[in-house]
Amino acid sequence: VENKKNEQPSELFKTIYDRRCYRRYKDAPVEQEKLDELIKAAVQAPSAGNLQPWDFVITKDGELKESIMKASRNQSFIIQAPVLITVCANWRASEKVYGPRGKELYCVQDTAAAMQNILLATHVLGLGACWIGEFDEAEIRKILRIPEFIKPVAILSVGYPEGETQKPARDDWRGVVHKETF
Ligand SMILES: Cc1cc2nc3c(=O)[nH]c(=O)nc-3n(C[C@H](O)[C@H](O)[C@H](O)COP(=O)(O)O)c2cc1C
Repeated sequence: VENKKNEQPSELFKTIYDRRCYRRYKDAPVEQEKLDELIKAAVQAPSAGNLQPWDFVITKDGELKESIMKASRNQSFIIQAPVLITVCANWRASEKVYGPRGKELYCVQDTAAAMQNILLATHVLGLGACWIGEFDEAEIRKILRIPEFIKPVAILSVGYPEGETQKPARDDWRGVVHKETF
C-alpha cells in the first residue's frame, strides 16, 4: 500500500516487472491445482457489462499440441509446453448486448485482460508462459472443435521454465505519454 515512490515495490509491482514470456520448459507436468488457480485468476478480469464472454481450452494431448504447433507457423516451443491454454471470446454474446463494438472490440479486450491475469498468476506460481498470437484461426478452430460463434484470441503455452529467458527492454514510458491531448 505504501508504494508512492515505488521504492519498495509491492508484490504486485514486482510480478508486473519480472514477468516475461518463457519459451523453454522443463519436462514436468503442471499440477491441476495450479491450472485451476490460473483460470480462477483469469475470470477475475474486468469485462464489458460483466458479460464474462470467455472460454478456456486446456490442451495437454501430444497429437493436438503438434497440430496446434503446425497451425502456429511451426513455432516449435509449442509442443514442448506441457499445457496450452487457448483463450476464446464468445463474440456472439458480446454482440447481442453491444452490437459491432461488442463483437469487434469488447470481447477481445475482455479476453486480453483475462490473459494478462493468467500470465501474472503463472509468474507467482513459479510457472512460465508465452502469449501466442501467430496462428491460423480457421485451423485452430478445426483442431480444437471451437464453434463458429467463439473466437480463439490467443494461445498461452504454460510450463515450468527451463533456464533464463531474455528480458526484452521497454521504450522509455515518458515517450508514450501525451499531455492533455494527443
Ligand atoms: C498479441 C501478442 C501476440 C504474440 N504472439 C507471439 C507468438 O506468436 N509467438 C511468440 O513467441 N511470442 C508471441 N508474443 C509474445 C511477445 O513476443 C512478447 O510478449 C514480447 O516480445 C515482450 O516480451 P516479454 O513478454 O517477455 O516482456 C505475443 C505477444 C502478444 C501480446
